[in-house]
Amino acid sequence: MLIPSLIQHKRDGNPIAAEDWARLVADYTAGEVPDYQMSALLMAVVFRGLARQELAALTDAMLDSGDRLRFDGFPLPRVDKHSTGGVGDKVSLLLAPMVAACGVAVPMMSGRGLGHTGGTLDKLESIPGMRTGLSLTDARAQIERIGCAMLGQTPEIAPADRKLYALRDVTGTVESIPLISASIMSKKLAEGLNGLVLDVKTGSGAFIPDPARAIELASTMIGLGEARGCPTVALLTAMDRPLGRACGHSLEVEEALAGLQGRGPDDLMEVTYALGVEMLLLVGAAKDRPDARRRLEESVATGRALETFGSIIEAQGGNRAVVDDPAILPQAGAVEVYRAPRGGVVSAVEPRRIGRGILKLGGGRVRIEDRIDPAVGFVITVKPGDTVRSGDPIASVFARDDAGVAGGLAALGEAIVIGDEGRLTPLITHRVTARGVEPMAGTDRACP
Ligand code: URA
Repeated sequence: MLIPSLIQHKRDGNPIAAEDWARLVADYTAGEVPDYQMSALLMAVVFRGLARQELAALTDAMLDSGDRLRFDGFPLPRVDKHSTGGVGDKVSLLLAPMVAACGVAVPMMSGRGLGHTGGTLDKLESIPGMRTGLSLTDARAQIERIGCAMLGQTPEIAPADRKLYALRDVTGTVESIPLISASIMSKKLAEGLNGLVLDVKTGSGAFIPDPARAIELASTMIGLGEARGCPTVALLTAMDRPLGRACGHSLEVEEALAGLQGRGPDDLMEVTYALGVEMLLLVGAAKDRPDARRRLEESVATGRALETFGSIIEAQGGNRAVVDDPAILPQAGAVEVYRAPRGGVVSAVEPRRIGRGILKLGGGRVRIEDRIDPAVGFVITVKPGDTVRSGDPIASVFARDDAGVAGGLAALGEAIVIGDEGRLTPLITHRVTARGVEPMAGTDRACP
């Protein structure tokens, strides 16, 4: 296969044949296509897109690059959720144990940080001892025992996505509907699911900010899922501000633990419950929406969800004591409060600037091999639309040292815009299914 001519072909806007995608993905996974050629091809896809058959071929090739979780003879329904990526998005950490505590199995395969967004695996690994590189046999045994495993792509599962994801992260090739769709669905379809719920982010901090294109992304993934026997539903949720208050790995685990104890921020809990309701309904584990919501709330109120999270942590080698004592998590060397530089109304809390601020603090990757510092990040206590007085404490920086603090304060100064007016946009705007798109305006009860 002549890779340069495939790159030129795509660059000029022509489709690549299904068998060439299959071969290319197999060869890239085997290390026979260099990263520089794959990067050029990915960039051509970002600009030129993929035809429907190309997307199907790419997704199948990525899925077939590895093995799948097999559940022959398994008694429980299996469901998962995946987010297209955001800042402060720690929903998976709460949702997986909550849904598992409702008696539905959750084989949750997640990714690492990508671009300015954080990744569930990196967050989980901030828990001392926690392993996410489970084998498929171990994952299945753990799901049988405690109803949930939270794992990454080992070499067994969609290894093509594992490599491509890391490459896209550092080559400016994340923001593409077909590449995001193939990446997410190749992982999810390897999980042997009976249903999948997608959290498709919109707004300035999302990879696909425009709501109409976010709906296109949702519909593309739903099409891939349904065509491969996995009923799929998507909610469009706001990512024009960070979700919750904590942004950064350990800080987000701590906030997720608070959520599992019934003390989570309203917006985080509302998105978590809304996605959880869809998960339970999709696999017939609740009779209607109120019933699904009640079950999820009970899982938190009774402590069963927190208990399940503790069991997941323990099963994956982590220190279970963290559920009662988040101080076990890596702690920042220097912490400083950020105060409103003027009075007024918060008009923006820009997620991309927050995400890039975390990167500068050392909490993200600039090169594939970078190690992240799990302790750094921000806690931001204001949302767009909030009124503040000059000097009010509105955020905190968690850094390695004083130089980090200075950089973090500067990042907050750029990210939090205070003006004369501001508005909190609705939190959950649309529900997308194979049948179409339902607007959900008015569902954001949590907006303060
Ligand atoms: N999440 C993924 O798994 N892949 C992407 O490309 C973007 C978000």
